[in-house]
Amino acid sequence: MSARARKPVVVVTRKLPDTVETRMMELFDARLNVDDQPMDEAALVAAVAHADVLVPTVTDRIDAAVLAAAGPNLRLIASFGTGVDHIDLQAARARGITVTNTPGVLTEDTADMAMALILAVARRLTEGERIVRSGKWRGWGPTFMLGRRLGGRRLGIVGMGRIGQALARRARGFGMSIHYHNRRRLHPDIEAELEATWWESLDQMLARMDVLSVNCPHTPATYHLLSARRLKLIQPHAFLVNTARGEVIDEAALARMLAAREIAGAGLDVFEHEPAVNPRLLRLDNVVLLPHMGSATLEGRIAMGEKVIVNVKTFVDGHRPPDRVIEAML
Ligand code: 8YV
Repeated sequence: MSARARKPVVVVTRKLPDTVETRMMELFDARLNVDDQPMDEAALVAAVAHADVLVPTVTDRIDAAVLAAAGPNLRLIASFGTGVDHIDLQAARARGITVTNTPGVLTEDTADMAMALILAVARRLTEGERIVRSGKWRGWGPTFMLGRRLGGRRLGIVGMGRIGQALARRARGFGMSIHYHNRRRLHPDIEAELEATWWESLDQMLARMDVLSVNCPHTPATYHLLSARRLKLIQPHAFLVNTARGEVIDEAALARMLAAREIAGAGLDVFEHEPAVNPRLLRLDNVVLLPHMGSATLEGRIAMGEKVIVNVKTFVDGHRPPDRVIEAML
């Protein structure tokens, strides 16, 4: 076989849906992870040393040390997922490695999960479930398990990209008014459609909301965006949900405030040191905790895999892949 005809070696770090893996095997010299054992640094170093393309996920830390071991063939990192905070983009750029992600196809699923968390916290879903399962339920009572009504409340969305906007559409259906903080103000047509109020000052928005949702990417600029100081601005009756990245919130400060009921409740799908969760959070009844499953639908994961395939195929065919990550856009 000539070098030209050689299929690119595509190392996939985690188990992907079967249909995606089958297609990858047809198109590429795909090295799959059938056991789905997360790769440690040594395994990643070995992978980048011989791969033409690496397909990592959020569980792989592709830092400068790993990239320093990249062989001359590694030209593309086609990440399975939208967030790219697990990849050192500067180090990749310095080595001339293109990075792609899978935006768009997990927007609706993640917005569904944010809405589900808002409902779960406000209406005490998992707390109620625990009571039934524990056998401690003694029957209906007029003042038993009272939650808070969402209709008429103010939702403040931190980060009004695709997912933030999709959440706004859902929350409007529940009668909430939409407020948002974003570096860039939305186009007036979208603002009008969502009847959304833009807050230039995050601090001022935090102080006035009933529910807050984090929907921005984790970048150096958003690390601990909700710092201890900013969390203190939130009203004690308010709920906070996070389906973005744990690092955007100072998790230890949040846990302290939830324990002291300085914030009424939280719904967290992501954590600062995944899969570790601040032990204080585990003891609290006013939090709903999920294992980073915001985009976890079969449909979504297949669509993500298909996007990875398009990015890899386009790139190895010598064209610009559609989902190149440009640092300035983050
Ligand atoms: C993915 C996510 O499950 O896409 C993202 O940024 O957080 C999740 O929806 C995960 O990142 C896959 O790598």
